[in-house]
Amino acid sequence: RLPGAAKGPLSGRHVVVTSGPTHEAIDPVRYIANRSSGKQGHAIAAAAVAAGARVTLISGPVTLPDPAGCDVVRVESARDMFAAVARVLPADIFIGAAAVADWRVEAAADKIKKRQGAAAPTFSLVENPDILATVSRASNRPRLVVGFAAETRDVIAHAKEKLLRKDCDLIIANDVSEAAGVFGGDANEAHLVSRSGVESWPRMSKEAVAAQLIARLADILDRSEAA
Ligand code: CTP
Ligand code: CA
Repeated sequence: RLPGAAKGPLSGRHVVVTSGPTHEAIDPVRYIANRSSGKQGHAIAAAAVAAGARVTLISGPVTLPDPAGCDVVRVESARDMFAAVARVLPADIFIGAAAVADWRVEAAADKIKKRQGAAAPTFSLVENPDILATVSRASNRPRLVVGFAAETRDVIAHAKEKLLRKDCDLIIANDVSEAAGVFGGDANEAHLVSRSGVESWPRMSKEAVAAQLIARLADILDRSEAA
């Protein structure tokens, strides 16, 4: 812990949070995006500030204001986000709340023009780096690495698989099927999936999910140090 830091359960800790969608350029004027609003990630960053942490928020394009008290790095694409995360580590806790695009387009340098009688363009996609998996396998791995799993079915099973595949300590699983209304909405139904089991939280505001998650992470860090 750093001396002279703000008071709170995460006093002296550095927390890095990714939030929002990424935009993947098709050409200079077009992009592929997703429906992430950034509300949950930004709420987590704010909760970590409130808990006394030094917080770096790496945000994709969102319409939300910057949470007070964070260092905010704005990025567009998954590759930008990846590079920004690498630059701001080390950290005690990494929370990957961003909806990172899985693929990018081999973008055209010039605007793609619609020509009379020409066929519609086709795009080939290239896989983006996995930020969460890379952070959790880095030599300077944060002590706690937390991911999200946005699923439309078999929520818990997919989250467990992601926990193992990406070597995370915790996965927050959400049902993002239309009925659950998580994307863009103000509430969230979270399932905490760890190696020791699953804990399902009742539906609550994204701020409440953020506060409870941060309290839990502070507790896990304290216990692991006491041990
Ligand atoms: N993630 C990441 N980098 C990527 C893709 C995902 O860091 N290129 C992170 C997300 O921020 C999230 C977690 O990985 O914390 C899970 O993202 P998700 O899209 O649910 O998982 P994927 O492995 O991409 O699987 P799929 O989209 O097929 O469900
Ligand atoms: Ca994905």
